[in-house]
Amino acid sequence: MMADTAPTPAKQLDHRYEGIAKVTGKAKYAAEFSQPFPKANLAYAYIVQSTIPNGTIASVDRYAADLAPGVIAILTPFNAPKLAQGPPQPPARRNLSLLQDKDVHYNGQPIAVVVAKSLNEAKAAARLLTIKYVTKPAQVSFRERPGDARWPKNPGKEPAGNHRGDVQAGFAKSAVVIEQTYVTPIQHHNPMEPHATIAWWEGEKLNVYDATQYISGVKMSLAKTLDIPVDYVRVINPVVGGGFGSKGSMWSHVPLCAMAAKATGRPVKLVLEREQMFGPVGGRPSTVNKIKLGASADGKLLAMQHDVIMNASAMEDFTEHSAGPTKNLYMSESNSVTEKVVEVNLGVSTFMRAPGEAPGTAALEIAMDELAEKLKMDPVQFRLVNYAENDPSHDRPWTDKHLRECYSQAAERFGWSKRSATPGSVTEGNALIGYGMATATYPANRSAAQAVVRMLPGGRMFVGSGTQDLGTGTYTIMAQQAASGLGIDPSLVEVKLGDSTLPKAPVSGGSQSSASVLPAIQDATTQLKLKLADLAIADIASPLHGLKTLDIEIKEGKLFNKNNPSQADSLADLIARNGNKPVEAMGSAEPSESKDSMTSTSWGAVFAEVAVDKDTHMVKVRRVVGTYDIGTLLNKKTGLNQLVGGIVWSISFALHEEAHIDPVYGRVVNESLAEYHVPVNADIGAIDVTVLNIPDIKFNPIGSRGIGEIGITGAAAAVANAIYNATGKRVREYPITPDKIM
Ligand code: MOS
Repeated sequence: MMADTAPTPAKQLDHRYEGIAKVTGKAKYAAEFSQPFPKANLAYAYIVQSTIPNGTIASVDRYAADLAPGVIAILTPFNAPKLAQGPPQPPARRNLSLLQDKDVHYNGQPIAVVVAKSLNEAKAAARLLTIKYVTKPAQVSFRERPGDARWPKNPGKEPAGNHRGDVQAGFAKSAVVIEQTYVTPIQHHNPMEPHATIAWWEGEKLNVYDATQYISGVKMSLAKTLDIPVDYVRVINPVVGGGFGSKGSMWSHVPLCAMAAKATGRPVKLVLEREQMFGPVGGRPSTVNKIKLGASADGKLLAMQHDVIMNASAMEDFTEHSAGPTKNLYMSESNSVTEKVVEVNLGVSTFMRAPGEAPGTAALEIAMDELAEKLKMDPVQFRLVNYAENDPSHDRPWTDKHLRECYSQAAERFGWSKRSATPGSVTEGNALIGYGMATATYPANRSAAQAVVRMLPGGRMFVGSGTQDLGTGTYTIMAQQAASGLGIDPSLVEVKLGDSTLPKAPVSGGSQSSASVLPAIQDATTQLKLKLADLAIADIASPLHGLKTLDIEIKEGKLFNKNNPSQADSLADLIARNGNKPVEAMGSAEPSESKDSMTSTSWGAVFAEVAVDKDTHMVKVRRVVGTYDIGTLLNKKTGLNQLVGGIVWSISFALHEEAHIDPVYGRVVNESLAEYHVPVNADIGAIDVTVLNIPDIKFNPIGSRGIGEIGITGAAAAVANAIYNATGKRVREYPITPDKIM
């Protein structure tokens, strides 16, 4: 621990800032607002989806629908207003379905919008539309078409940095080699809160409540798409019921809602139904990972090769970088990766919690287990032998890395030393018991951000930033950071976020919100302290009147003369004497310069124990123990909750989740939470998570790296490796359902 330079930890809130508002129903999600527009005017929009995977719309017979009760308007490709449609801003570079042409690229594509006085009337009228298509042959599967694999359109050629050293030479001199193919399925994000938008126009100005991870992205993308000045758009979103990447970019329903509001002259609400979450708002593509690893007899990796093909939509490419961990998780003498896409008639793929690292570690960490076994080495020892002291992919140092301590602490807590290396050798009643482990990893990201703080009457404070809280704890850590700047209690801070009129902050994606926004708040409180000191100096009634700015220190809600601490003023008194006028300061922060010379990454070690029934092959994950190196732990409750939630999802990745695509119609067959399996409480055993809590101050002044995504990495492979240890059956295709263990 770098005690001399480490930041003083902020006082933690022991509850979520917005927790009581949420559990008492006071917190309003995007679809729940009925202000400031006249509520009686609110109209309801329902998206009509295509029922073929490829072709064109020949006609829409709307006669019956137009006459149906409550119908206000129906937008189709035949009557929708034409849009200028400039290129949307990253990361929202989406090819949207906005009724601008009659092409159908996948089954489920938005092709019409019905607006009615009630949701039920809109849905009923939608069923009365008769849509005729000219169909074209469709491709909905890709695994049998490896010959169609190509480089993604962006960059359109082999990306730089995918090859290091000579892998062929590495394999030639390897004493032990494994080569296998590992498959991960298409998955769909299912946040509790589906996508939802309310749009209303005030003249040329557009307001939206929108369930998004990126209010300023939606603002820019709406302005571009609808060809209006960016300052004419306001996006509001005080709480989000989960996002996981699906709300990281703007999808078609948002501008469609705004178009419907314009066409009808009313505020319009558009909420996606659960089945509409499977296709029109993205998902994780399926990855087929061919992995070859070679090592010397003493376990040194000499060559790693990882070639991926995945499905991409006929509408737009997206690359799931599942070969990413192969480039830098271990030190190998050489490595080589490729990632190619095969076009299919499915909805667009997108970021889904730990894009790249989640499927990448799920695949690579089984391969590592297989090679360790062939080498007759303990899987932890094998990883320690190949520990990457520097980032192999860029040949440069890490800003900080304590993965060794993660392995040792988690192994100790788990009781790894009791593991039997012989598969199928431990039984308990009718169950086979197995232990498995894997490494977790996720990059630490950071972007420019701004914040505003105000000293308020009564010793209270305000902090605001145009960021978002997906349920992760942004409100809570913003309160803590603002409070720590002035040494006041975090319960005295009022927080505002989720409004695009606030100072700009980045997308809450890539696990970057805390690392980006908190340094901006830190800068803002530094500016605020200078202003408060100057106010006291100029105030004839202040005990500090006439001192120099540098002589004044602010802590515990008071201003002191550094040279004579008995000379003090309270912040509450100062503001009271200022006519109770708040004092405001702005702050901003950018990624540190080390980003070009060092790599910042978070790490973890995950251990799992499973019990597999000998007859039914049902897997019970009894225990998962993980220790993570994520820099400073900002808040125990919200931080550890994110890691535990990530592990739950990783167990889901290992055992449950898969979107099944109809081979003829190309529709997701299991587009409901009844059939798209996610774990319930009974599926999850004990989860024990610790963090090292060592600040990474070369990454940012708070020392915190992101925590939102790393939990879903590694744990799936730990479960898969535990199933192998229990049964001797190596399953290389997720999810590991009982039929695959037979
Ligand atoms: Mo996360 S998939 O970057 O929202």
